[in-house]
Amino acid sequence: MRAANPSSGFSKVESYRELRTQLAALFEGEREGLANAANMSALLFQSLPDLNWVGFYFLRGRELSLGPFQGKVACVRIGLGSGVCGTAAERRETIIVADVHAFEGHIACDAASNSEIVLPLIQNGRLLGVLDLDSPLVARFDQEDRIGLNAAVDLLLECSDMARLVD
Ligand code: SME
Repeated sequence: MRAANPSSGFSKVESYRELRTQLAALFEGEREGLANAANMSALLFQSLPDLNWVGFYFLRGRELSLGPFQGKVACVRIGLGSGVCGTAAERRETIIVADVHAFEGHIACDAASNSEIVLPLIQNGRLLGVLDLDSPLVARFDQEDRIGLNAAVDLLLECSDMARLVD
């Protein structure tokens, strides 16, 4: 994927369009949810600039449980309503945090993180978990990231059998 930064000459919109094409190729002929989520976390981590962590948490009862990720080791369980991930899951909405140190209850897994975006995974009205991206830059994520990442999440959910990953 072309880097989504101003110096690359490609807009974020173009970069996310290309990312979606690459994800569609990765998912083609493969519906295993764990494998597709793992490959998606790797592709996002290597494609998007200025990230220090990308990964999934899947819903287990009233908790989120760590799924495939790229980056430093992370906390394994997050209660619904806790931290940025648990709050996004409970509200079933994307949360963009420009400065994680100003977010009350933020769970610091990697001290390098300064901003974060968390998108809920919702399939047929059912909450399955979240996708979490962290950056060492303050205010790294904007509405273009939200739209591009939301399209990537929608593709994952459309192309994969995720039900076995949650209970
Ligand atoms: N910061 C998250 C915890 C997960 S890590 O960033 C990988 C949160 O506040 O929920």
